[in-house]
Amino acid sequence: MRGSFLPEESISGASAPSAVRRFAAEGMETITLRRATAEDAPALALTGAATFLEAFTWMLPGPDIVAHTRKHHAAEVYARYLAEPGARVTLAVTGPAVGCPDQPGSVVGYVLICSPELPSFPVLPTDVELKRIYLFSRFRLAPVLDAAGRIIANLRPAPALLDAALADARALGGSRLLLGTHAGNSRAIAFYRRNGFREVGTRLFQVGSLQCSDLIFARQL
Ligand SMILES: CC(C)(COP(=O)(O)OP(=O)(O)OC[C@H]1O[C@@H](n2cnc3c(N)ncnc32)[C@H](O)[C@@H]1OP(=O)(O)O)[C@@H](O)C(=O)NCCC(=O)NCCS
Repeated sequence: MRGSFLPEESISGASAPSAVRRFAAEGMETITLRRATAEDAPALALTGAATFLEAFTWMLPGPDIVAHTRKHHAAEVYARYLAEPGARVTLAVTGPAVGCPDQPGSVVGYVLICSPELPSFPVLPTDVELKRIYLFSRFRLAPVLDAAGRIIANLRPAPALLDAALADARALGGSRLLLGTHAGNSRAIAFYRRNGFREVGTRLFQVGSLQCSDLIFARQL
């Protein structure tokens, strides 16, 4: 397994501000991971909506994507997940903005796991669902920092988020991680295949008034 990034390390990673500030002063955009808390629901809703729009506006009609985003990326939706004992959210947070070295960075990506919400699929009691993994494209190659603020070699933000989700799913007692993704989302599908997921089924997924065809992938934990 690559240099994995466990959520416990990530929480202290956010408290390595001097190193993060140093990278920011050098003009380098970095990512640290940390576990989301209830207070993060409003920021998570905005980042959830914005990353969803960035990912799918090219393939979904405007009214449908707006209706879907308003419904599924509201702050109350994230507050509900954050209160669920079987759900975990890890955030990808960028360093401080240029010229604001003492301010916290913004949430630019996240991964959310939860109890499976795949009604048409025969889920097992120890299945966990990777419900969402999203990262703004600008940050896909940004260096990921560890708890001490050092760059983790050969680790990009998306695999780091996935590692955190895998660790959380195992800690929750999960034996298999499931996910559904649009059949046309070739970048995400390539990412899942690269990371050990295999296709195990299909489902229909509603986006506004549009019915989409999704693939279901699974990976043993
Ligand atoms: C899904 C997602 C988190 C995956 O992240 P990612 O940045 O594509 O994943 P990686 O870090 O593995 O890939 C980064 C780059 O390195 C390349 N790469 C990764 N591993 C590689 C390898 N072993 N060999 C060669 N190239 C590799 C990838 O092809 C990609 O290159 P590109 O930018 O030229 O396409 C991201 O694409 C995303 O946020 N997408 C939008 C939201 C989305 O679709 N979410 C899933 C909904 S189900």
